[in-house]
Amino acid sequence: MVTFDRHRRLRTTAPIRDLVRETHLVKADLIMPVFVDATITGKEEIASMPGIYRYSLTSVLDEIKEIVALGIQSIIIFGIPDHKDDVGSGAWEENGIVQQAIAQIKAAYPDLVVIADTCLCEYTSTGHCGIVKDHQVLNDESLIYNTKTAVSQVKAGADMVAPSNAMDGFVAAIREGLDKAGFQETPIMAYSVKYASSFYGPFRDAADGAPQFGDRKGYQMDPANRLEALREAASDEKEGADFVMVKPAMAFLDIVRDVRDRTNLPLVAYNVSGEYAMIKAAAHNGWIDEAQIVKETLVGIKRAGAGLIITYFAKDVARRIDKQRW
Ligand code: PBG
Repeated sequence: MVTFDRHRRLRTTAPIRDLVRETHLVKADLIMPVFVDATITGKEEIASMPGIYRYSLTSVLDEIKEIVALGIQSIIIFGIPDHKDDVGSGAWEENGIVQQAIAQIKAAYPDLVVIADTCLCEYTSTGHCGIVKDHQVLNDESLIYNTKTAVSQVKAGADMVAPSNAMDGFVAAIREGLDKAGFQETPIMAYSVKYASSFYGPFRDAADGAPQFGDRKGYQMDPANRLEALREAASDEKEGADFVMVKPAMAFLDIVRDVRDRTNLPLVAYNVSGEYAMIKAAAHNGWIDEAQIVKETLVGIKRAGAGLIITYFAKDVARRIDKQRW
């Protein structure tokens, strides 16, 4: 008889399968996004993201309490301001919505790692991630305001900033700004590889940050490009990033692996709003098994090489880990 390999020996029982499992998802991998909104009282569910809410300053601590109780150690915070203008002043004002929320959260939960998303798109009247003149998003002018935003967030108590505005030189500019303000020890989690993706659709509803004209293709990346992703990650590492990120995750797992193989920095993947919405919608219709699909998705992201995952499923996953329902 032709000899063959018996791979099934290692699959015979659940305990044996447990012994040989190569990828494990743990709570410390998870970063939960949190939206704070200056225009509401209480909380409002985001229509295209069932189970995810925007919180007022008065209601956000209840959500944080729940996140902490579930054993999640880190959040990333986004703001919806009550005013928008040309320079996105709501992003960097001392009493901006995110600054106030960070101060309040850190006062109540000093051990929670609070990461501030650093961008202008929710705060500019154009909905673009930077300063616009003659329908152009200006790179270097935008860096000035992004740096102001990062510094104000750290002054308010953020443990880390995560710049997502996709301008060239954003890590260098923010590093210099933080250092000058005395925050040499504050890490930068750079959205290094950020594709111009339709998977951000529900987020733009949530954060009211859709561009008012044009699109983001002049600063976010073409999904067709791989080598460009490696150049972006290399630039951010050279400029002093402490983490690099790939975003979105599910359609870009090859990029996660490629970046993992080329940097020694911690690697983050962002399982974005559209990925969440698709799974929730299909599960709502009874077409898929949500828990199993989420597990497969997040384990796949880890297996591809991400050490950390920003995911709207973080709370659901933490609950299932507690109940050992994986
Ligand atoms: C801000 C920002 C966006 C996301 C994270 N930070 C929107 C965008 O780039 O258009 C998207 C996150 C998600 O879809 O879950 N620039």
